Amino acid sequence: MRILILGGDGYLGWPQALYLSNKGHEVAVFDNQTRRQFDLKHGFESLLPIRMLHRRVERWAELTGKTIKIYSGDTTQWDSLAGAFQDFLPEAVVHFAEQRAAPFSMIDREHAFYTQYNNVLGTLNVLYAIKEIVPDCHLVKLGTMGEYGTPNIDIEEGFIEINHKGRTDVLPFPKQPGSFYHLSKVHDSHNIQFACKIWGIRSTDLNQGIVYGADTYESVLDPDLATRFDYDQIYGTALNRFAIQAAIGYPLTVYGTGGQTRGYINIKDTVRCIELAIQSEPQAGEFRVFNQITEWFSINDVADKVVRVGNRMGLNVQCHSLANPRVEAENHYYNVVHTKLLDLGLEPHLLDDNEIEHMISLALANQDRIDRRMILPTVNWREAENDVKRVEEEFAN
Ligand SMILES: NC(=O)c1ccc[n+]([C@@H]2O[C@H](COP(=O)([O-])OP(=O)(O)OC[C@H]3O[C@@H](n4cnc5c(N)ncnc54)[C@H](O)[C@@H]3O)[C@@H](O)[C@H]2O)c1
Repeated sequence: MRILILGGDGYLGWPQALYLSNKGHEVAVFDNQTRRQFDLKHGFESLLPIRMLHRRVERWAELTGKTIKIYSGDTTQWDSLAGAFQDFLPEAVVHFAEQRAAPFSMIDREHAFYTQYNNVLGTLNVLYAIKEIVPDCHLVKLGTMGEYGTPNIDIEEGFIEINHKGRTDVLPFPKQPGSFYHLSKVHDSHNIQFACKIWGIRSTDLNQGIVYGADTYESVLDPDLATRFDYDQIYGTALNRFAIQAAIGYPLTVYGTGGQTRGYINIKDTVRCIELAIQSEPQAGEFRVFNQITEWFSINDVADKVVRVGNRMGLNVQCHSLANPRVEAENHYYNVVHTKLLDLGLEPHLLDDNEIEHMISLALANQDRIDRRMILPTVNWREAENDVKRVEEEFAN
């Protein structure tokens, strides 16, 4: 199939491009490099060195003889997006191209505005590009489990049957997201469902859990193919951050009491889930929702695992509870239905000690690249205006 990967230079988009190219699909990536610009502006670097997109693609071709096409463009800029669609005529579009950090979206008005503008209007353009250029194309859109929040009932897979005053309907599961970023995903979901209904677009909305892991079977083939590994307080996800902290003797930064429970997924399963979604195409007009997680843990569970594995490796790993900078329940019910991808054939890589040891070993091997300034949280949800200058100064200290 011809598959266009929006955000194909990112943590997940790049290994996805390699995975699908390796499976024999014709793959193109579309990216505006905004994630790399954030690093340049703040002096950050991924734990593992990442090559420029052109070099990555060149190396993949040298190793495998397979080509990945590059489009430089921005989803919010209609001409560049439509140009890529017209040139490549995708049969499936995998949409990763969003600002994806909750703390970034909570810095202040400007960052909340950018996040929702970039994500919601970018996705609206993608919907119009499909409608006008490739109406049969399947949109596979990355949402997040964070759209649901933490309700006191089981989280169903997208929809819930409601009995109300003697009548019954199947309705979208209620959403109670915890940041302006997560809200952007909810707004996306509404727009996508509406577009499916009115134009007959086919779409799969993947409510993905927190992704962990440094590599996939393809990205380890050569150092030039490595994907980014973020460990900072803005873009680093929990387990990735803890692995780095363990390696450099920094107490694990547990926010609040640590009972916050979330769904997790290994990056190797993410790439497979998207393949499964592409292979099992929805009907025209169908809006499917899959919960893309394989298991769930509280922050304390994750920290305990890292402490145990780190200490077994001879490190002295400690935990430290910080005042929670976020507004979120710290003790709550959490039970998620996630059978649809398993039914399609997903065989999960569950989190085991070997995976954690591998991540800590990578951090130990790249210790000289770890910048301690990037670890402590500086964005507080309660402040409507986190002074950007102060946030940057605190980063620097
Ligand atoms: N990483 C996770 O744990 C996780 C969990 C759940 C959902 N997701 C979702 O998966 C997607 C990818 O996440 P990631 O971790 O790879 O993020 P990432 O920031 O590493 O990658 C996103 C890529 O999209 C590009 N991009 C952003 N806005 C763009 C625009 N307007 N036009 C073109 N390119 C643009 C960026 O330059 C970057 O290369 C996001 O939508 C994210 O919300 C990620």
